Amino acid sequence: MAAKKPITVTLTGAGGQIGYALLFRIASGAMLGPDTPVRLNLLEIPQGVRAAEGAALELQDSAFPLLSHVEVYDDARSAFHGANVALLVGARPRSAGMERGDLLTANGGIFGPQGAAINAAAADDVRVIVVGNPANTNALIAASHAPDVPAERFTALTRLDHNRALGQLAATVDTPVGDIRRVTIWGNHSATQFPDIAHATAAGDSVPALLAARLGGTDSAREWLVDEFIPRVAKRGAEIIEVRGSSSVASAASATIDHMRDWVAGTPNGWTSAAVVSDGSYGVPEGLVSSFPVESVDGTWRIVPDLELDEFARHRIAASVAELVEERDAVRSLGLI
Ligand code: NAD
Ligand code: LMR
Repeated sequence: MAAKKPITVTLTGAGGQIGYALLFRIASGAMLGPDTPVRLNLLEIPQGVRAAEGAALELQDSAFPLLSHVEVYDDARSAFHGANVALLVGARPRSAGMERGDLLTANGGIFGPQGAAINAAAADDVRVIVVGNPANTNALIAASHAPDVPAERFTALTRLDHNRALGQLAATVDTPVGDIRRVTIWGNHSATQFPDIAHATAAGDSVPALLAARLGGTDSAREWLVDEFIPRVAKRGAEIIEVRGSSSVASAASATIDHMRDWVAGTPNGWTSAAVVSDGSYGVPEGLVSSFPVESVDGTWRIVPDLELDEFARHRIAASVAELVEERDAVRSLGLI
């Protein structure tokens, strides 16, 4: 059988923390599968180039059979040349006391030129995920500078929030995480996000019913949901910063791998969450990059249609979408889109 052609993966911020956690998993085949060779293009700003070069040396020392080539760049156009997969991680992380939206001015300017470089140089089938915060609006900025790339190819990471929700639920209903289905993160990757378990199941049983049984009735389950679960998941990033002293790294890298793997290979276990360009579904204005329940079908994210939403869910989603509208208006007034 002829050897498979390597997939070109461009990673920005390759000299940073998440970059370091991602590279070795990508090279091992965790993202694109055990039969797919990868070529890694690492993009850094000049101050980060040495760190990326160091990671490249370690990649060589790891002798990954799937790794066909590694190159370090400080020029976006060259780094995105022929990219089939673009992981936009390079950006400043927040520190304690900041909200992710506070990073718009610091980071927003990175994503226009990178969107333009993707437009000019990437492969026709490029798939983009933005991890650098504020991820949703940075993805919007990148997409708006890439008019020749279909908007559906630009996404942002909310899989980390999704995985956090699974982790919290699994502990509370005492079920293995792999048995939980139909959880959704709606809206922005921020404290306004809405982690929704109304349709969730654990090993086929309704999660709301399991919670009511475990926590002493529907009122207590509701209280847990509103006062504990939702804020815990939505503010987990801040909790990690407080406990670790810096923002999440390995879990963010792991969620990025999950997102891209499922996008390429499909979602056999039902839906997951990803921030995708809205087509107007569920009242989210067209063009905003918002998190939805999504399935990957034939290599394309599709928003799960026709879910019933109660008043509480509609209100929570609207609040997070209002924040996305504010962020969009802010970057518009900064001339970034
Ligand atoms: P880090 O500071 O360790 O690394 C960032 C790297 O990006 C640095 O090496 C820096 O030199 C590089 N960089 C900066 N500007 C660049 C540019 N224009 N082009 C290429 N590289 C550039 O930070 P980190 O911990 O790796 O986090 C990276 C980003 O990911 C932050 O914005 C953080 O908030 C975000 N993040 C998002 C999620 C999510 O769920 N969406 C989760 C965790 C972290
Ligand atoms: C996270 O959710 O851990 C990241 O977005 C980092 C942050 O600033 O919260």
